[in-house]
Amino acid sequence: MRLKDTGYTFTQLKEMNKKYMIDMAERYDFVAETARGVYLYDEQGRAYLDFYGGIAVNSAGSCNEKVVAAIREQVGDIIHTSNYPYTIPQTLLAKLICETIGMDKIYFQNSGTEANEAMIKMARKYGTQTYGAERYHIITAKNSFHGRTYGSLSATGQPDNACQEGYKPVLPGFTYADFNSLESFKAACTGDTIAVMLEPVQGEGGVHVATREFMSGLRAFCDEHNLLFCLDEIQTGWGRTGAVMAYMDYGVKPDIVSMAKAMGGGMPIGAVCARSEVAKAFSAGAHGGTYSGNPVACAAALAQIHEILDLELAGQAARVGKYFLQKLATLPHAREARGKGLLIALEFDRDIAGAVKHNCLDQFLLVTSVKPNVIRMVPPLLVTEKECDAACAIIRKAVEQACK
Ligand SMILES: Cc1ncc(COP(=O)(O)O)c(C=O)c1O
Repeated sequence: MRLKDTGYTFTQLKEMNKKYMIDMAERYDFVAETARGVYLYDEQGRAYLDFYGGIAVNSAGSCNEKVVAAIREQVGDIIHTSNYPYTIPQTLLAKLICETIGMDKIYFQNSGTEANEAMIKMARKYGTQTYGAERYHIITAKNSFHGRTYGSLSATGQPDNACQEGYKPVLPGFTYADFNSLESFKAACTGDTIAVMLEPVQGEGGVHVATREFMSGLRAFCDEHNLLFCLDEIQTGWGRTGAVMAYMDYGVKPDIVSMAKAMGGGMPIGAVCARSEVAKAFSAGAHGGTYSGNPVACAAALAQIHEILDLELAGQAARVGKYFLQKLATLPHAREARGKGLLIALEFDRDIAGAVKHNCLDQFLLVTSVKPNVIRMVPPLLVTEKECDAACAIIRKAVEQACK
C-alpha cells in the first residue's frame, strides 16, 4: 500500500495513528513504504541503509525475490487451514530444518516469544514425565531477553527492566545466573532444576558473546546432572553469527532450540526443535496453536532458508562482520566494538547511543540503541564491505555531532 493511493497526507496518517493506536515504539518520522535488499524506502522514495534489518529478520534481503515468489504461489493455493490436514510447505520445511541443523523433531509457532513458551513448556513437561512434578526449575542468564509473553518474560533475566516492570509477579521457577559464568549456573542448580536456557549471543542485552568454555562447560554440566541444555537462537539462528545456527560453531548440541526472526523472511513464524526423547513430551493436545505451521509462513520460510544456505550467507556474515567490527573499533568514542558475525554492537565511552541513532537516521542509516551507550546493528546478511564503509562514515559523523 502506498500513501499517495490512500488520499491521506503523512501528517494525517500520524494523527490517525496517534488517535487509534496503542503505540509501543518510538516511531521514526517516516513511512516505510517499500524495501529491497539492504534498503528501506519512505513515502517520498528516499532510501535508508537498513542496518537493523527489521530487527534481525531480513537476513536474505528485504522482499527477497524467491521469498516473494513462494508467498505469491502459496496464497493462490491455500492461505490457512489448521493442523488437522497435512500441508506440503509445513512438512517440507520440517524436513529441511531438522536435516540442516541436526535436530530430530520440530513444532512450528508464530513468533519468537511463542517458540520460547514452547521450549519452556516442553522442558517442564519432560521433567514432569521423566522425574515427577517437582522437576520444573529453569536457570536462565542475567541480562537475557526471551520475549514478552509470561513464560518468556519470566525467563528473561532483567527483573528491573521495563519489560518486567509492572507485570509482577512473574511465573515462579526461574533463577537468573551470571552469563559466561559456569560457577554461577552451577550454584543456581537445585534438585528441582530441569533445564538451563540461554542465548549463545545476548542480543537485546547489548550483544554479549558466550565463550566457548562456558558453552561446552554448561553442556557437560547438563549431561552430568540430567539437565536439558536449551538454546534461544531466535536472534542468532539462520546465519546471523557466521554459522547456520550459533551452536554449530561452538561444537555443542542443544536438547531443545528455539528459532524465529530470520527463518521466515519477514513472515511471522517461529519453531522449537528437540531431540526425539525430549520431543516425546509433546503429544496431541499438550500444546498447539491455530496458526502454527501456517502454509504461507512455511512456504516463505522454505524459500528463505534455501536462500540463506544457497547464497552461503552464514559465511558472508562471518567475513563481513569481522571487517565491520574492525572498522567500528576505530571510530571516535568507541569503547568496544563486539559481536559475532553480523550481530554487532558498538559501545561508546559515554551515553550517546540515543543521539547517535537519531543522527544516523537524519543521514539515512538505520541502527538501534539497546543501552544508553550501546548501538546495535543487525543488517541483512548480504550486506557488503562497501555498505559497511558507508555505515561507518555515517556513524562517525553522528558521533561527532552527538559530542559537539
Ligand atoms: C533472543 C530473543 N528471544 C526471543 C525474542 C522474542 O521474539 P519475538 O519478538 O518474535 O516474540 C527475541 C526478540 O528480539 C530475541 O532476540
